[in-house]
Amino acid sequence: MGFKVAVAGATGNVGREMLNILSERGFPADEVVALASARSQGTEVSFGDRTLKVSNLENYDFSNTDICLMSAGGDVSKKYSPKIGAQGCVVIDNSSAWRYDADVPLIVPEVNPDAITQFTKRNIIANPNCSTAQLVVALKPLHDFAKIKRVVVSTYQSVSGAGKDGMDELFNQTRAVFVADPIENKKFTKRIAFNVIPHIDVFMEDGYTKEEWKVLAETKKMLDPKIKVTCTAVRVPVFIGHSESVNIEFENEISADQARDILREAPGCLVIDKHENGGYITPYECAGEDATYISRIREDATVENGLNIWVVSDNLRKGAALNAIQIAELLINRGLIKPRKQAA
Ligand code: A2P
Repeated sequence: MGFKVAVAGATGNVGREMLNILSERGFPADEVVALASARSQGTEVSFGDRTLKVSNLENYDFSNTDICLMSAGGDVSKKYSPKIGAQGCVVIDNSSAWRYDADVPLIVPEVNPDAITQFTKRNIIANPNCSTAQLVVALKPLHDFAKIKRVVVSTYQSVSGAGKDGMDELFNQTRAVFVADPIENKKFTKRIAFNVIPHIDVFMEDGYTKEEWKVLAETKKMLDPKIKVTCTAVRVPVFIGHSESVNIEFENEISADQARDILREAPGCLVIDKHENGGYITPYECAGEDATYISRIREDATVENGLNIWVVSDNLRKGAALNAIQIAELLINRGLIKPRKQAA
């Protein structure tokens, strides 16, 4: 007997991708349920070659459901995830609501799989921020080899990270530029078409944004609290795929050639690094792909033991839906969860 899985936020960018990936990977589910707000009740979403009718999260009974993949925003997670967990259903939560709670493991399976056992405290496992997920996949094998001291990250984040409304805004503004219509900003604070915006999420007291803070807090929680991280997070007019320019300072010696060899062998990483025109990855090429791509691996001669790398991944997949499903697979493969119908 297989598992019963609910996808909450199934009509959104990440929820739809979760359904695609569950179907693509042949996830061991007997039943998959699509949930969203009352607005979407009764509408249909694709699941492989079938469609699923959307139910209302608000009145859904989780007592028979084994796993809830939650991606309906922070406020919905704050309200529902503890209640769902209390009904014995394990929540894999894509929002930032629970990531920093000491009783909630924050997991990237290639990085800190062993931390998953702590999930029983609340029955919630947090999925990291999209920029952090791809970053730690690339940093982990390098940290194991030469011990990272400090990381400087600049992100180039696609509009799909801001949900379906973010993608619509880029599309509509781009069209408006060509037909000379007025440009409307709703989702973003400034025009995103043919522009870049150095502001994601809210401002904090120290002048950094919450998105920038998430990258450092989550890298420390998953990889090593001793690593110093600083970040500038920027929204760019790309539909899917986050890119990152990453400067890394190590305690021990590591050459660009060694880093290339290590990353070639590392789980979840794919190195595309030829010193020629087009010998690197761009976000357009990584949309729909699972890997974290690494290009432009170079030594930084301005510090001792420094490297620069370029990291790109599909933010809806490794940055969200894929990682959540890999967490569910990790739970199953380690025997940490059994289908409840069978257990009863
Ligand atoms: P709905 O389409 O019914 O509003 P995105 O981040 O791509 O915009 O997607 C957000 C997802 O979260 C959608 O599936 C949306 O459903 C869902 N959602 C938003 N608010 C709620 C809510 N109060 N209860 C359940 N689902 C919600």
